[in-house]
Amino acid sequence: MASFAFFLLSWDWNQNFLKQAACLPCAGLTAWNGLNGLNALGKSHTVVVQGTGGVSMMALKLAASSGADLILTSSSDAKLEQVKTLYGLGSIKTINYKTCPRWEEEVLRLTHNAGVDITIENGGG
Ligand SMILES: NC(=O)c1ccc[n+]([C@@H]2O[C@H](COP(=O)([O-])OP(=O)(O)OC[C@H]3O[C@@H](n4cnc5c(N)ncnc54)[C@H](OP(=O)(O)O)[C@@H]3O)[C@@H](O)[C@H]2O)c1
Repeated sequence: MASFAFFLLSWDWNQNFLKQAACLPCAGLTAWNGLNGLNALGKSHTVVVQGTGGVSMMALKLAASSGADLILTSSSDAKLEQVKTLYGLGSIKTINYKTCPRWEEEVLRLTHNAGVDITIENGGG
């Protein structure tokens, strides 16, 4: 919970305050629960975040605050670059799941076959 409080305090509340705040109760808590409340996350862990949608971006920022290694997938190289720039996450690893349909194999390669601790998966709803 301390990490979530830190995340809220570090938010740029001056820009589009209401629009950003409106996503917290639903997408934010979905992401929070998907990450198990950050309970199991730290610098030694790795998280895959699928896609650049609302839940995924919340999860990405929350997971980044834990210090975990991040792998982000998207259908678009431009979106992957935009996320890196927008959120100051230049060091995250990225995979385009359109040009790399066996993206899970790329995840294994990027993690030296260790796999990941949590995957934020969009398709199952
Ligand atoms: N928003 C909420 O408050 C909320 C709450 C509870 C549950 N959910 C569920 O959580 C999921 C995501 O919701 P959202 O609001 O974040 O949706 P969203 O903003 O529409 O984002 C969905 C993202 O999923 C990615 N995607 C699409 N097809 C994919 C595929 N085949 N493989 C991997 N990624 C794919 C796309 O990313 P790219 O464009 O980067 O490829 C897309 O932007 C949905 O299943 C939704 O029902 C949402």
